[in-house]
Amino acid sequence: MTKKILVLNGPNLNLLGSREPHIYGSATLEEINGAVAQEAATLGLTAEFFQSNSEGALIDRIQEARLTHDAIIINPAAFTHYSYAIADALAAVSLPAIEVHLSDIRQREEFRRHSVTAAACRKQICGLGLGSYLAALRELKELLGE
Ligand code: DQA
Repeated sequence: MTKKILVLNGPNLNLLGSREPHIYGSATLEEINGAVAQEAATLGLTAEFFQSNSEGALIDRIQEARLTHDAIIINPAAFTHYSYAIADALAAVSLPAIEVHLSDIRQREEFRRHSVTAAACRKQICGLGLGSYLAALRELKELLGE
């Protein structure tokens, strides 16, 4: 069976393309998801996508994933910096998860430098734009022994 990866994107990432392109680039979320789906197929994986501006909706999707998916890639966006609820959900489902960010949060404002969700993930990949998602896919392929 093809391994299924759930790709989650948090608040304001639906505005990619027009949102602060000097920081996040000019690709829309649809374009990013398209490129991720293509790379997943190349790697022999299936990717499914969900974006929400709501913390609860993301948590519901993480909980459901324990029955439907093999791994998670998550860009929790601003929730990265304060959502212990998302961190708890990731820990609760115990699926391998990788946290990604388009920008390099280590080089930005002080409040962005700390992630509360990364502790519940295998690793954090940031600063590579779309490449952060693609690198996460490759890591998960290794991890899942595919
Ligand atoms: C982000 C970084 C976060 O600090 C920010 O709140 C985002 C996007 C990124 O992908 O670079 O919304 O997660």
